[in-house]
Amino acid sequence: MSSTVAFIGLGHMGGPMAANLVKAGHRVLGFDLVPELVATAGAAGVQPAGSAAEAAATADVVITMLPAGRHVLALYREQGLLAAARPGTLFVDCSTIDVADARTAHEAVVAAGHRALDAPVSGGVVGAEAATLTFMAGGGEAEFTAAEPLLHAMGRKAVHCGAAGAGQAAKICNNMILAISMIGVSEAFVLAESLGLDHQALYDVASTASGQCWALTVNCPVPGPVPASPANRDYRPGFAAPLMAKDLGLAANALRAGGVDAPLGLKAAEMYAEFAQGEGAGLDFSAIVRTLRPGGPHQNGNPA
Ligand SMILES: NC(=O)c1ccc[n+]([C@@H]2O[C@H](COP(=O)([O-])OP(=O)(O)OC[C@H]3O[C@@H](n4cnc5c(N)ncnc54)[C@H](O)[C@@H]3O)[C@@H](O)[C@H]2O)c1
Repeated sequence: MSSTVAFIGLGHMGGPMAANLVKAGHRVLGFDLVPELVATAGAAGVQPAGSAAEAAATADVVITMLPAGRHVLALYREQGLLAAARPGTLFVDCSTIDVADARTAHEAVVAAGHRALDAPVSGGVVGAEAATLTFMAGGGEAEFTAAEPLLHAMGRKAVHCGAAGAGQAAKICNNMILAISMIGVSEAFVLAESLGLDHQALYDVASTASGQCWALTVNCPVPGPVPASPANRDYRPGFAAPLMAKDLGLAANALRAGGVDAPLGLKAAEMYAEFAQGEGAGLDFSAIVRTLRPGGPHQNGNPA
């Protein structure tokens, strides 16, 4: 069944996601603060709206794909999006935001007489363009079921993770595993280098042994063993280090808020924050391997 969707935030992810909804036969009204992005989406069949509220006024579903929780909350409340929508509108936030902000957003949506789902994604810009994203959803069963046809138009998989905020929780837990495993794989390659062990030899063993993981076999941080990994193209992203740093910052917030003792997660957050602000700013997150070699910032005696 075709829906009328208001799509707010037509950036790297939102632009192609909105275009895929059009391809699937939905009527999509789009808005972004950057007029050029509205025009680009328009070329893909997204109808330009003059404001987010204007887009939401006639929509069955409002999808947001924004930088952070403060943007979502400001749009919902101060900028009048919730007030502009018809009663019972389904609000699906696909942005990656703080779990606490996601829960606050759910409460605001429900208090305004609407329905809410948090549905952050993994799969990056490539997945957004190819409609192969994975959605991790938090909210009620009925809200998830209502959103599913739209999620499947933009992605390959949608997992209902639990109640409000559970989608964001799954996203940051997964990315904390990914960051820690990428640092672990990188440290192993650097140790191999110091022991005179060939990258390919370590790969051939670890990729079929208990060291096997996505960071090794798909996004291998050294050039050679996995030809499609960003290491073979000077670490052009891929999954950019600043996005990993952002997600780890959200994980660190949740760790502290919950009093969870996760020394490796917090250390990974610290390392990626530093890397993303420096040489990692434009690089894939696997380039963290560069900072682990002799003379790097993590050597004994050097401040981390
Ligand atoms: N880029 C990725 O690979 C990736 C992967 C997974 C998840 N994410 C998450 O998806 C979200 C979006 O990422 P992105 O890469 O598309 O970011 P982006 O910066 O390209 O897009 C965000 C867009 O939101 C717009 N915006 C901000 N406030 C607005 C408002 N009040 N009204 C209308 N538009 C507004 C901005 O102008 C911008 O175009 C982020 O939360 C990010 O963490 C990104």
